[in-house]
Amino acid sequence: METVVSNLQDFNNFAVDFAKRLKPGDVVLLTGDLGAGKTTFVKFVARELGFEGLVTSPTFTLLNEYSGKMPIYHFDMYRLKSGAEAIESGLDEILKSGEGVCFVEWPQKVAGILPSKNIMLDITVLPDNSRKIKVSKTQ
Ligand SMILES: Nc1ncnc2c1ncn2[C@@H]1O[C@H](COP(=O)(O)OP(=O)(O)OP(=O)(O)O)[C@@H](O)[C@H]1O
Ligand SMILES: [Mg+2]
Repeated sequence: METVVSNLQDFNNFAVDFAKRLKPGDVVLLTGDLGAGKTTFVKFVARELGFEGLVTSPTFTLLNEYSGKMPIYHFDMYRLKSGAEAIESGLDEILKSGEGVCFVEWPQKVAGILPSKNIMLDITVLPDNSRKIKVSKTQ
């Protein structure tokens, strides 16, 4: 599925719709360049799931947790230095637990750990600053 969102309001509408279909255990892999909108997407989804706090990039901690209708785990692997650090971040355990929903920015860095069943969301910035969003789901 592919769609273009031309502003933050459109992007929010898209994320709200996406959030409504999420179930505990879902793993969402977010790809796209720096500043494409991955963290912004998680922020909109978390808000729709009832989290009222601040959603920021977990760049230094690798993981932020938010409590909404279900737990929300937000990883950003951009600064990951080693496989050991990925395990320490709790990714492995959280994936095994199947609790809540798990978002992973820069999943390329932890490809070996990720489940084959996932939802991939790729964001491309278009020349007019709108975003092309491609969603693919593995079985
Ligand atoms: N149509 C749009 N959709 C999404 N974001 C937009 C749009 N237009 C502008 N933006 C802006 O683009 C920026 C996206 O930043 P964000 O932190 O979400 O990117 P990111 O993909 O998480 O980057 P990083 O890889 O550094 O973590 C935000 O400042 C957001 O307001
Ligand atoms: Mg980010």
